[in-house]
Amino acid sequence: MKSKTIAFSLQKGGVGKSTISGVASFLLSQKGYKVLHVDMDSQANSTQLLTEVEDATETFDERDVLEAIKQQNPHPFILNISENLDILPSTDYLATLDQFLFNEFNQSPGVALFNIIEKIREAYDFIIVDTPPALSILTINSLFAADYVVIPTNLEKFSYNAIERFLGTVQEVNEFKTEQVNSSIEVLGILRSMHDKRRSDNKIFSDMLEETYQDALFETIIHRRATTGRLPIFGFQGNTELPSAVRQHRSFIEELIQRV
Ligand SMILES: Nc1ncnc2c1ncn2[C@@H]1O[C@H](COP(=O)(O)OP(=O)(O)OP(=O)(O)O)[C@@H](O)[C@H]1O
Ligand SMILES: [Mg+2]
Repeated sequence: MKSKTIAFSLQKGGVGKSTISGVASFLLSQKGYKVLHVDMDSQANSTQLLTEVEDATETFDERDVLEAIKQQNPHPFILNISENLDILPSTDYLATLDQFLFNEFNQSPGVALFNIIEKIREAYDFIIVDTPPALSILTINSLFAADYVVIPTNLEKFSYNAIERFLGTVQEVNEFKTEQVNSSIEVLGILRSMHDKRRSDNKIFSDMLEETYQDALFETIIHRRATTGRLPIFGFQGNTELPSAVRQHRSFIEELIQRV
């Protein structure tokens, strides 16, 4: 199988990017695919979720994706988590990446992550990239490195409004990527998440997304669920409520595999 790099991204906070990308990495590795999770958010939420360390910055200082990008060499920084699952972790210091890219990096600032992923992609079936809630140079690097992008969104007005601008950004990065390396980024789909059936506005925005984006939407809807919300506390190893926490993500993974 040819390696697929998939970014999970939207410039909105708290829509489920880190949880969904982290669970996707976990479930794909459980299905027997070789997976690398790349955390491109300095909040390091998906790093904490997958590695179950308390303080990612303390643990991975100078052993993180920032260092891999600075050295343009991922190999010494890839950490094995479990069978089939590796990670390039994040720390607080990833927030300083822009200084490096704009002052010291001798290529276009958007291509730094792409370069290091090119060096390891053959070793993986899936490379899953979690991104920060902003259209920053971290997100630009993530999109440029990606073959596909999944857009998780909650069912609220601000997120609904953000999608169009996000798609515009994907288009711009895509043009740049096609020109630079003759390959493109495909929007794999928009994933509705954080659905709360007690909120009537959630239903309204879910319907509006269906009308506007139609086939681009994944059929799966990720609902708000207490066991999913507790994943950062109990993690993946030895978590007795794991089947409930990730049940709804399994059908999303089936759709994702069909679309790539
Ligand atoms: N399906 C769910 N049900 C309940 N809680 C959830 C669910 N998915 C995620 N959460 C919780 O909601 C919060 C936000 O989720 P998450 O961190 O995945 O979003 P995010 O888009 O990555 O946020 P940010 O933009 O800050 O990076 C977290 O506390 C997470 O544990
Ligand atoms: Mg996040």
